[in-house]
Amino acid sequence: MFPRIAFAATLSLALGAGAVAAQDLADQVGARQGQFKLFALNLGTLAMMGTGRAEYDARAAQAAADNLVALSGLDQRALWPAGSDSGAIDGTRALPAIWDNPEDFAAKLVALNAAAVEMARVAGDGADAIGGQLRGLSGTCSACHQAYRAPQ
Ligand code: HEC
Repeated sequence: MFPRIAFAATLSLALGAGAVAAQDLADQVGARQGQFKLFALNLGTLAMMGTGRAEYDARAAQAAADNLVALSGLDQRALWPAGSDSGAIDGTRALPAIWDNPEDFAAKLVALNAAAVEMARVAGDGADAIGGQLRGLSGTCSACHQAYRAPQ
């Protein structure tokens, strides 16, 4: 699958990189927020089916889980330039703690990727199978948000 150790190392290097121009920061913040919106959309599909609020559809469930695997495996180096934290600029909820703890931040993304792989393994097996993986998967979202995302 994804080269997890290398990915964590890549992210921590990117987090140490120098500041870039203000316009680039807006583009990069917008891109990472778009990435998280895609996380939420795909998790939502699975949550609706896994809790019986939407009819189970094996193909849609598999697609959503596969998307989460792919999205959480994307190279992050363009998305987290130095100086793009919530203490430095408006329009972001990314806490400065991310740049102080790049290895832990990267590890939390790797944990999401691992949980998405588990979800993708069972997504074709029915609503109950999805329901059984939901808490673990969404727990990896909230673990990172608690540590690294400012409240609204
Ligand atoms: C490795 C840490 C991490 C993980 C894992 C993570 N998030 Fe986030 N998320 C963040 C941070 C940091 C922000 C704030 C980004 C910003 O405003 O620049 C954010 C923002 C968001 C947003 C708001 C985006 C916007 O419109 O501004 C949503 C929605 C979201 N995350 C959903 C999720 C979901 C769903 C998952 C799990 C499938 C998830 N996140 C996993 C760190 C994480």
